[in-house]
Amino acid sequence: MHTLTAHGATIPAIGLGTWMLTGEAATTSVAAAIQAGYRHIDTAIGYGNETEVGEGLRQSGVGRDEIFVTSKIPPDQLGADEMLRAAEGSLERLGIDQLDLLLIHWPSQTLSAAETIRSLNRVKQRGLTKHIGVSNYTIRLLDEAWAATEEPIVANQCEHHPYLNQDKLRAATDKHGMIFVAYSPLGQAGVLDEPEIKDIAGRFGRTPAQIVLRWQLQKGFVAIPRSTHPARIRQNLDVEGFDLSAADIAAIDELRSVGTRICDYDISPEWD
Ligand code: A2P
Repeated sequence: MHTLTAHGATIPAIGLGTWMLTGEAATTSVAAAIQAGYRHIDTAIGYGNETEVGEGLRQSGVGRDEIFVTSKIPPDQLGADEMLRAAEGSLERLGIDQLDLLLIHWPSQTLSAAETIRSLNRVKQRGLTKHIGVSNYTIRLLDEAWAATEEPIVANQCEHHPYLNQDKLRAATDKHGMIFVAYSPLGQAGVLDEPEIKDIAGRFGRTPAQIVLRWQLQKGFVAIPRSTHPARIRQNLDVEGFDLSAADIAAIDELRSVGTRICDYDISPEWD
């Protein structure tokens, strides 16, 4: 699996998303994914599954150093002291000494992006995480955070799939030399029945999910698909060894006219 590099962080292009995976399913999915070759696991304090994800890391039998582990600080723990405690709790639950990447899960509604990123800088400087990043940040929030940070902000994790045009945000992450990590990269499976995608899948002898993930990779995104099925977990990693044509990519791009944003809540910022 190829990797993307930004500001000294090297991130495997496909990771396992664990949102909504809880209990035993979180452990078995993480262990199965790593055994299948995944080297990037994405969790969050807010998912309530870090203990189980940590168990999966250990059950996989693969060394900690070989796996890129991301977690995220929830919006109600973004004060300087709270953030530090939250990060310590995350490490304790995961059973690891240091995260590879720690993200601000959602922008704060009360603290500025400048204040928040400075607190995250402290967490990194104390050694709790190798790299820092953000999630659900808009162009304005990225600019504000970059203006205030001492440490590079290596990634912005946001929703991205064929039904959602993120060109403007992608240009902003590129401008800052950051990696755009696509969550809900399959549109939570909603795009997999699109005739256009099925046609391309048929031509390549691949599944629709593989086509969408290949589209993500060729466009330069890191993608973190989630599945509870071992066969699909394996399939979602097996997206090397073929290339979509420019016409195929353009055909999938056209689905953006649907304009679906799945993850939009009261706490969401004003999207670009
Ligand atoms: P399941 O867990 O039953 O496999 P996203 O990553 O965009 O959030 O999408 C997750 C959804 O897509 C889940 O409902 C998951 O269901 C489904 N999914 C993940 N991988 C595949 C695949 N290879 N084929 C079909 N559905 C998939």
